[in-house]
Amino acid sequence: MVKVLRIEVADEAGTQAVAAELARVVSSGLVTLQGPLGAGKTSLCRAWLRALGHSGSVRSPTYTLVEPYFEDAAVPVFHLDLYRLGDAEELEYLGVRDYLAGASLCLVEWPERGQDVLPSADLSIEIVPTEVGRRLVLRAGGARTERQLEQLAVRLRPHFKVCETEGGRG
Ligand SMILES: Nc1ncnc2c1ncn2[C@@H]1O[C@H](COP(=O)(O)OP(=O)(O)O)[C@@H](O)[C@H]1O
Ligand SMILES: [Mg+2]
Repeated sequence: MVKVLRIEVADEAGTQAVAAELARVVSSGLVTLQGPLGAGKTSLCRAWLRALGHSGSVRSPTYTLVEPYFEDAAVPVFHLDLYRLGDAEELEYLGVRDYLAGASLCLVEWPERGQDVLPSADLSIEIVPTEVGRRLVLRAGGARTERQLEQLAVRLRPHFKVCETEGGRG
């Protein structure tokens, strides 16, 4: 069981490769993305959606707050950017609870802007700019995600410098 996975990526192609593996391993739930402006949150979401088979454009939901994808699929995907969220209550109107009540994948940039309303994340991704690229810090919010991070570590280890923090029971 892996609670925290740290992945060093050298360039945007690296982030895209990690996103493609995330798309294979993490099929639903609430995924939050944190990091400064320009860290690569939207790039990662775009690559995740592409890996799921979305071939059109992926607009940053900076102004719309939410962009839906695969709406008629068994697991629709909602990409949110809460940077411009005025009031946490606004999140309720966006229907976030409805998205999360059913099977869905929610990718949420700037979750800290909605912290009073947003439930705790199944997976949180922090993107830390480094001297040479980015460090992706993935934290599991529960046992299911810990298993997913374990799978992810196995898949990524041949290609990236990966550091895991193991969790015991509980
Ligand atoms: N390793 C990397 N991972 C992701 N993006 C990178 C990386 N290196 C450079 N970039 C660039 O950084 C920018 C990230 O922008 P964006 O994804 O919009 O950031 P955010 O959504 O975090 O504000 C893009 O121009 C992208 O090409
Ligand atoms: Mg963004």
